[in-house]
Amino acid sequence: MNNFEYKNPTKIIFGKDTIGKLAKEIPTDAKVLMLYGGGSIKKNGIYDQVKSALANVNVIEFGGIPANPEYAILMEALTIIKKENITYLLAVGGGSVIDGTKFLSAAALYEGETPWDILKNNIRSTKGMPFGTVLTLPATGSEMNSGSVITRKETKEKLAMGGPGLFPAFSILDPQVITSIPKHQIANGITDAFTHVLEQYMTYPVGGLLQDRFAESILQTLIEVAPKVLKDPTNYEAAANFMWSCTMALNGLIQQGVPGDWAVHMMGHELTALFGIDHARTLAVIAPSHYKYNFEAKKVKLAQYGERVWNITNGSIDDKAYAAIEKTEAFFKELGIETKLSDYTKDYEGTAEEIAKRFTDRGWLGLGEHKSLTPNDAEKIVKMAY
Ligand code: NZQ
Ligand code: ZN
Repeated sequence: MNNFEYKNPTKIIFGKDTIGKLAKEIPTDAKVLMLYGGGSIKKNGIYDQVKSALANVNVIEFGGIPANPEYAILMEALTIIKKENITYLLAVGGGSVIDGTKFLSAAALYEGETPWDILKNNIRSTKGMPFGTVLTLPATGSEMNSGSVITRKETKEKLAMGGPGLFPAFSILDPQVITSIPKHQIANGITDAFTHVLEQYMTYPVGGLLQDRFAESILQTLIEVAPKVLKDPTNYEAAANFMWSCTMALNGLIQQGVPGDWAVHMMGHELTALFGIDHARTLAVIAPSHYKYNFEAKKVKLAQYGERVWNITNGSIDDKAYAAIEKTEAFFKELGIETKLSDYTKDYEGTAEEIAKRFTDRGWLGLGEHKSLTPNDAEKIVKMAY
C-alpha cells in the first residue's frame, strides 16, 4: 500500500427531511449567496424547503447555473459576490451547481488578474470563501470532495480545479430529492459514480486489500440498487443507498494508498466540451475502449473485478478480464446509456486527433496510473470509441 495523508472536513447531514437543519450550519451573521440551476428546485419543493429553513438568514439568490457550469455565467455571480459583500455561499443543486460554487469560492478570494487562470494554470486553492451544499442529484460526489469542473463555451473547454480549501463545510443529503429527477439523469448518476470507482480501482494491485473491497462494495451496491431507483425513485431504501454510494465513490476515501487512473474522465471531459454530451455518457463511451486498449496493464484488476463484482468464475485471467469489460458495457446499456461516440453525434470524424492535439498543447503528455498514456494513445482510444 502506498503512503497517504487523508483529511476530509465536510460534515454530512444525511437522511429524510434534513433540509430544515440548514440554518444551524450557517453563521448567524453571514451574508449568503444561494446558488441554483435551471429551476428544477422550484418545481420539486426543494427551493421552498431551503427558503423556509433560511427565513432568518440574510440571503441573496443567483439561479440559472446550467449543467456543465458555464464560466461566463459564474462570472456574473462573482460580480454579485463582490458588490454585495457576500461572506458565505450555499449551493442547492447537483454537481454543476456545486462545482460552480466551488469555483466561486476560490475566485472570490483570488488575487490574480483573471479567474480563468485558476483553471488554465490549475492553481490549487488552499483557501476559499466558506460554502455549504444541499445536494439534489446523487452522481458526482462533489458534495464531499474538493474538486470542480468548469466549462467555457467560448473556447469549447472544460477544465478541472480544486484544492484543500474547497471542501464544502457541510452537505445535506436527503435521498427523497431523487423522486423528481428524470430517469436519464438517474442513469447518468449511476454511471458517473460507477466510473469514479473504476478510475480509482482499475489500475494494478498494490496490496490495498481494504481499498479494493471498499471499491467493489460500492460497485456491487450500485448494481443492486440501479434497477430499483430507476423503477421507483420513491423507494427510500434504494434511494438512500444510491445517494450514499455516489458520495462514497468520490469523497477521497477509496483512493487513499492506491494508484488512480482518471484518463477516462480526461478524455470524457473533451467530448462534453466539444459536443455537449452529458458527462456520465462520455465516460460510458470512453471506458470500454480505454480498458481494452490498456488491457495488459490492467488485466489483473479487471479479472479481480470480474470475479468479485460480476461473479465471472470461468477461464483464464485474460478471459475474465475481457468478460468484465463486456459486463460493464452491458450494464451501461441496461441503464439506457449508449457506449459509442457515434450514438451521440454524426460529426465525430477528427475528434480523436483534436483531443490528442489539445492534450499535447496543454502538456498532458502522460496520463493514467503510470503517467504513460500519451496523446497518441488517447487518439487511438477515442477512435476505438467511435
Ligand atoms: O438545473 P436544474 O433545473 O436544477 O436541473 C438539473 C440539470 O438539468 C437536473 N436536476 C438536478 N437535481 C434535480 C434535477 N431535476 C429534477 N429533480 C432534481 N432533484 O439535472 C440536470 C443535471 O444536473 P447536473 O448538476 O449538471 O448533474 P451532475 O450532478 O451529474 O453534475 C455534472 C457536472 O459535474 C461534473 C461534470 O463534469 C458536470 O459538469 N463533475 C464533477 C465532479 C466533482 N466535482 O467531483 C466529478 C465528476 O466526474 C464530474 O466531472
Ligand atoms: Zn465523473
